[in-house]
Amino acid sequence: MSILKLLRPRVLAAVQKASPAAGEIPTVADCAYINAWLSAKSSGTFGDIQVRGLLQAAKRLKLDPHTFAADVISNLEISEIGIAKVDGPGFINIELSAPFLEKRLEETFFKGDPRLGVDKVEDRIVIDYSSPNLAKEMHVGHLRSTIIGDALARVHRFAGSEVIAQNHVGDWGTQFGMLIAHVNDASTSVDLDKLQGLETLYVEAKVRFDADKDFADRARENVVKLQAGDQAMLKQWEQIVDVSLKHAQKIYDTLGVLLTRKDVCGESFYNNDLHNVVKDLTDLGLLVVDQGAKVVFTPLFQKDFGKGKPIFMVQKGGDGFGYAATDLAAIRHRVRNLKGKRLLYVIDNRQSLHCKQLFDVASRAGFLPPDVTATHVGFGTMMGKDKKPFKTRTGGTVKLAELIGEAQDRAYQLAKDKNARRTKGDVFSEEQLRDIGNKVGIGAIKYADLSKHRDKDYIFDLDSMLQFEGNTAPYLMYAYTRARSVARGAAAADAADSTAVAASTSKIVPRLQERAEHNLAVTLLQFPDELQQVLDTSLTHHLCTYMYRLAQAYTQFYNACPVIKAPDAETRESRLAMCTITSQMMKTGLGLLGIQVLETM
Ligand code: ARG
Repeated sequence: MSILKLLRPRVLAAVQKASPAAGEIPTVADCAYINAWLSAKSSGTFGDIQVRGLLQAAKRLKLDPHTFAADVISNLEISEIGIAKVDGPGFINIELSAPFLEKRLEETFFKGDPRLGVDKVEDRIVIDYSSPNLAKEMHVGHLRSTIIGDALARVHRFAGSEVIAQNHVGDWGTQFGMLIAHVNDASTSVDLDKLQGLETLYVEAKVRFDADKDFADRARENVVKLQAGDQAMLKQWEQIVDVSLKHAQKIYDTLGVLLTRKDVCGESFYNNDLHNVVKDLTDLGLLVVDQGAKVVFTPLFQKDFGKGKPIFMVQKGGDGFGYAATDLAAIRHRVRNLKGKRLLYVIDNRQSLHCKQLFDVASRAGFLPPDVTATHVGFGTMMGKDKKPFKTRTGGTVKLAELIGEAQDRAYQLAKDKNARRTKGDVFSEEQLRDIGNKVGIGAIKYADLSKHRDKDYIFDLDSMLQFEGNTAPYLMYAYTRARSVARGAAAADAADSTAVAASTSKIVPRLQERAEHNLAVTLLQFPDELQQVLDTSLTHHLCTYMYRLAQAYTQFYNACPVIKAPDAETRESRLAMCTITSQMMKTGLGLLGIQVLETM
């Protein structure tokens, strides 16, 4: 159980005893939580945890806030956890005791707990992420969904949930009919096995599609044939899908994203089920014909449509099923066959209305039962430094492969410059520099994305994300190498002095003496509560902010508490153990964000 989970009921019980009326006020019951860890702690402040909400309660009940807080404390049973004091006008601060923290460290880090204090969650979560449209190369528009989804998949798996990834690729529809029409027309023979060629073909086909009516008709006919199961069409379609997916897989592998071919469940998968969706919606009386199209009215969202009719387009005129029909079939599949209990959709905020309508219609149709939750995990747009949607200099879409390559090259160059200036310590080979560049480049792209509030647009700026100072991946990755190098330094010193205890294998539980040790311990033990926020809200920046604070707490510890030159052997062992568990936590935390650590850099 996390520290906050341990404390909360006790605080609420004490509030209740001090004033039954205070416990009754719902807002107070809500905020009489310990909702803040004092983050930047200077030596003068008391308390690791602040209890908030009592001041408002006292005011509402016309109690003297100070006396009320003191009453709460006198009813608070936390002797084995720490001590509480009234602070300011009527806050309560709690200082955790050294024995409590030491015991927690032991339980969390020295007993093989794979979740480092996080309670096991038993849930079955379907996460829809990445989901690019095929037949062209992946571009920046697919980056955020891929990165955020991957981190969420990792975090939920870590907490014990069963995670089913769904890569809902756009592998069905007009673009294929168009491409096939163009390929079959072309006088030159086309090598469908090279996506490089496909990308050009796609652009050419699109130009013709927009300009030439005959061509557009042929393209549409192809789609109809394809959807009706025409063998020749299907063969060409399969080829295009295969090449596109191979290309996407290369990007996933480079990014270190856990998606594989078996997670692909694209639009085409639902083709045969679409008429069932239409039939079921019709039987339920939800589907109406509106100007030749089959739609579901979604009056809840009238305001989003202004003067237009609030409709969810299931089937356009003729035979064409839309994106909406496919998503309805998909949501039912995720509930019925995949047995998901929580469905997450990691999709651009521009599709938030689509998601709201989808969830609304699916609930009304019984596809989404009340015991299953569906959540749109939306995110903002990636902007360029000019604060406009990220484009190439000439205004084109930025290919993902090129963007990743550039980040890796820049990181490599920075590592190389640093290497050239190095007078002591490790000097790296060309191969090592490449490895550093690759990992730092990818780490930087991921961290820049995951550390921002995902709802907001964010500015993609390689210069700032590659900085070694501030809340960046290189800073955190470097902090990890420093924590590791202390252990190596100790091992080396020990090797030279045969009477020393074998440092690197230290299994000793730290003893907390100095302020900086106390603060680092508290920060390490905050992890379960911080991760809980990510599990609850799908906001990854909580974990990033935590990682940044951990790195800072470690730096303060490192500056204040000599390790290798500690005053005595026991202290040295204790501090070495702090370094070891800190690096373990850093590696775990970065790993959950999909960022690989380096031993030196
Ligand atoms: N392929 C879509 C696009 O590129 C995203 C699909 C998201 N997932 C879904 N179930 N609609 O816009």
